[in-house]
Amino acid sequence: MNTDLINYYRRRAQEYESIYYKPEREDDLHTLAEVLQRALLGREVWEIACGTGYWTQKIAETALSITAGDTSEEVLEIARHKSYTCPVVFRQEDFYRPSEKPAGCDALFGGFIWSHIPRAGLKEALGRLSEVLLPGSRLVFIDNRYVEGSSTPVYSKDEQGNTFQQRTLADGSQHLVLKNFPSADEIAGVLSEFGTVQIRELTYFWMAECDLFSNKKVVYRPV
Ligand SMILES: C[S@@+](CC[C@H](N)C(=O)[O-])C[C@H]1O[C@@H](n2cnc3c(N)ncnc32)[C@H](O)[C@@H]1O
Repeated sequence: MNTDLINYYRRRAQEYESIYYKPEREDDLHTLAEVLQRALLGREVWEIACGTGYWTQKIAETALSITAGDTSEEVLEIARHKSYTCPVVFRQEDFYRPSEKPAGCDALFGGFIWSHIPRAGLKEALGRLSEVLLPGSRLVFIDNRYVEGSSTPVYSKDEQGNTFQQRTLADGSQHLVLKNFPSADEIAGVLSEFGTVQIRELTYFWMAECDLFSNKKVVYRPV
């Protein structure tokens, strides 16, 4: 079975947005969009792992500007063909090691990518991302909560507590995909090292906002 996350999303590009059309999730998605628009109001946003631009379009309604990156040219191609109500620059990038650091951003947004970061690497990844942002910046993440009967069941778990789902694409290919479902306490435990945290839980989704500490420069050193 394929375990390559980047390749999985390249192959899934054309069918990706079908997850946003599950009727039972509609109310939550609407609420998420409103909360995100408030959280990123007037901000210069670096959006990591932007995918097909579904959330880019929503946050563009209140953000000042967006630099949006993803590893997959296939999803970026879809995102580039949409229209946005603030200036948006798309670029192919790996957020773990961006070749060009986005200048002048005071917010970072990651939609449905936290769950794909191995637990042991979260603090280091967030530390590196935060270092690039201006003082007073805000981190915003949204992701799935596990809901029996709606979520794809967890197929396996490793020694570090990372969970994996077995997913099948329209072309019949099978993929083992890292997908973590952290509790609110776990999310807060990670983010509180970087700033003041606020977490909201809806039925299907969670959202975390973290205002970076302004009295110290964020430099994360792995222990
Ligand atoms: C679950 S999708 C989320 C897409 C979009 N943020 C959304 O919420 O609709 C995960 C995205 O992360 C991208 N991705 C995975 N690893 C990445 C990395 N290291 N750097 C940048 N993008 C990555 C994939 O190509 C995919 O588009």
